[in-house]
Amino acid sequence: MSDWIEVGLLADIPRQGARVLQSPRGPIAVFRTVEDEVFAVLDRCPHKGGPLSQGIVHDRKVACPLHNWVIDLAAGEAVAPDHGCVNRFPVRLDADRVFLQLAEV
Ligand code: FES
Repeated sequence: MSDWIEVGLLADIPRQGARVLQSPRGPIAVFRTVEDEVFAVLDRCPHKGGPLSQGIVHDRKVACPLHNWVIDLAAGEAVAPDHGCVNRFPVRLDADRVFLQLAEV
């Protein structure tokens, strides 16, 4: 499991918000839900590339701050009636520490 990289503490990510990590794949937004679940997706909205990390998380979804598309973070897809996919990355919690893999799902 050496390809999991530690990216910080859960407490570093605001609830219903995100933290952005720079990676060779581009900026990755790591989101934290109200229930302390974490999801990681490329920080580019499938609509026009808006910064999803600046949106508000509701349940397991985030609303893009630019034009309000809603992205399902677990599925990596825009919620109908909009269409589009965003790259997801495996992310997991080990106690209070967050680990990420750069291989896309
Ligand atoms: S760029 Fe995200 S909704 Fe338009």
